[in-house]
Amino acid sequence: MPANNNDAHGGTGPAASAALDGNSPAESAAPVLRTEGLRVTYASQGSPVHAVRGIDLAVAPGELVGLVGESGCGKSTIAMAALGLLRPDVATVSGSVIVAGRQIVGASGKELRAIRWNRVSLVPQSAMNALSPVLTIGEQIVDAVRAHERMPKRQALDLTVDALERVGLTSSHARAYPHELSGGMRQRAVIAMATVLRPELLIMDEPTTALDVVTQQLVLDQVSELSRELGFAVVLITHDLPMLLEWAHRIIVMYAGSVVETGTPHDISREPYHPYTDMLLRSFPPLSGERRELAVIPGQPWDLRRVADQCLFADRCEHVTDPCRRGTPRLTTHAGRSVACFLRDPPPPAARAADTEVTQGRKSK
Ligand SMILES: Nc1ncnc2c1ncn2[C@@H]1O[C@H](COP(=O)(O)OP(=O)(O)OP(=O)(O)O)[C@@H](O)[C@H]1O
Ligand SMILES: [Mg+2]
Repeated sequence: MPANNNDAHGGTGPAASAALDGNSPAESAAPVLRTEGLRVTYASQGSPVHAVRGIDLAVAPGELVGLVGESGCGKSTIAMAALGLLRPDVATVSGSVIVAGRQIVGASGKELRAIRWNRVSLVPQSAMNALSPVLTIGEQIVDAVRAHERMPKRQALDLTVDALERVGLTSSHARAYPHELSGGMRQRAVIAMATVLRPELLIMDEPTTALDVVTQQLVLDQVSELSRELGFAVVLITHDLPMLLEWAHRIIVMYAGSVVETGTPHDISREPYHPYTDMLLRSFPPLSGERRELAVIPGQPWDLRRVADQCLFADRCEHVTDPCRRGTPRLTTHAGRSVACFLRDPPPPAARAADTEVTQGRKSK
């Protein structure tokens, strides 16, 4: 799953056309999600918030992709852009988002309704706490099915029970109200709801944050199993990098609306290429081996109202050098791994000047 940032450079870089690599399934199949030059700018009062800054990424059928980064880096915004949920009065979306072969940017309400749930489903942040308390789990899933597919109630109920059984629940859970289920069961019910119409892509936004670690693991195992059984790809959004190291085929690390690194869990845990990924890894206690002091990432996140005129991580980076203050590194691919950092990909002197001009040119717009 290649990914690329175009914030300071406009067009698509080498990573955009890189082949899907590594351990993910269905490497050569057309991606179920592809974004190209995706930008999302919120029309915040005062100055616009550049929440997603030109991202190219692709997710292969059946692939388990983890999207990780600190709070406010644009993870949920990407999820909402993939489902066409950003209203034009709230945000400007540009670039391209293709889900299962359909363009989402600029699609009509009718086109989006045909894609959502059937092709792509979203389990939004805090979804398990957003279930209606006055309807049973079964009624809520049946309603969701019939809102997207014309079918008799009986058939929708059969599909509902089937979806619940796939996540380890039963028809008696269909008759229960949300408060009668544990957090883990509610989360599974939400996953059953999101997968009942067999989408090709499931996006889960922080699905396990409110669960204890054992239940977290059970829910994630269930999702992987379901993905293998039904063949859908998953994009799992989280702050929890160690959790992704255990679960994902591939990890995308985001910082301030950009992708800074992508790689397999093996590559990323063995040798993180980007200083932010490295600090993120060191900020969690190790699962095994000796205890070590946990890293704290100093300073403040990049102000998303600022246009990029330098590496967005430079002010917090332990390895910052002069070029980092003069231009924005682009995501480049090295032997199947992508990273946006001048430590790995130093700009030639001429390119540094060009980068500065590009970023300054944008700034003056
Ligand atoms: N409707 C909005 N208007 C203005 N700014 C917004 C709006 N929604 C989100 N933002 C800003 O866009 C940025 C990205 O938000 P987003 O919710 O995508 O982050 P996130 O990575 O999902 O964070 P978290 O991990 O806390 O859920 C944040 O700075 C946020 O404040
Ligand atoms: Mg979020």
